[in-house]
Amino acid sequence: MNILHLISSPRQEGSFSIQLGRAIVAQLQSKYPGSTVKTRDLTAAPFPHLEEVHITSFHTPVEARSLEQVEALKHSDEAIDELMEADVVVIGVPMYNFGIHSGLKAWIDHIFRVGRTFKYGEQGIEGLVKDKKVYLAISTGGIYSEGAMKSFDFTEPYMKSALGFIGLTDVTAYRVEGVGLPDVKETALAKAIEKVAV
Ligand SMILES: Cc1cc2nc3c(=O)[nH]c(=O)nc-3n(C[C@H](O)[C@H](O)[C@H](O)COP(=O)(O)O)c2cc1C
Repeated sequence: MNILHLISSPRQEGSFSIQLGRAIVAQLQSKYPGSTVKTRDLTAAPFPHLEEVHITSFHTPVEARSLEQVEALKHSDEAIDELMEADVVVIGVPMYNFGIHSGLKAWIDHIFRVGRTFKYGEQGIEGLVKDKKVYLAISTGGIYSEGAMKSFDFTEPYMKSALGFIGLTDVTAYRVEGVGLPDVKETALAKAIEKVAV
C-alpha cells in the first residue's frame, strides 16, 4: 500500500489537521503492514500560483512544448506522478476563511490536467485518477458538520466535488471541529481520532 499524506497547514506540530492525518496514516499502517508513506508539505514547498505559461503548457502537446513550457510543467508532472503512484491519499484540510488553504488549492490547480487526470469522453468529463481511497482530515475553529454554520463549509463539499471530477470518488472525511471554541477545543482532536476507521 502506497500512502500519500498531503499537509496544508503551516502550523506544524500545533496543527490539528496534521495530527488527525497522522492518526489516519497510523491506522492504515497497522491495517496494511509494510505500507510506504510519502508526506508532501504543501506549505513548506508551495506550488506556484498558475500563470499564463502554466496554462498554455497544459494545452500544448508534448512534442510541441518549448523548454520553458517543459520547465513550467515540472511541478504538475511531479505531483500527478506522485498521486498516480498512491493507493491511498490522506489530505489535511485546515479551514481558512471558510475554504481550503491556498497551498492546497495551488496543488489542485496543478493536478487538474486534461489528458492526464481527466478527459472529455463520449459521456462528457471522465476522471482518470481511479481506484484510490481518499481520506480528508479537516480542522476548523467552529462547528460545520451540523447547525447554523453548516452552509459556510466550503472545505468538504469543495474537496469532494473537485476530487470526484478527476475520478477520486471514494472520499471519507473526518473532522476536528470547534478548536476555537471554549469547552469544545480540549476534546476536539481526541473525539475526531476516536471516529477514524480505515
Ligand atoms: C487565517 C485563518 C483563517 C481561519 N478561518 C477560519 C474560518 O473561516 N472558520 C473557522 O471555523 N476557523 C477558521 N480558522 C481556524 C482554523 O480552521 C483552525 O485553527 C484549524 O485548526 C486550522 O488547522 P490546523 O490546526 O491544521 O492548522 C482560521 C485560522 C486561520 C489561521
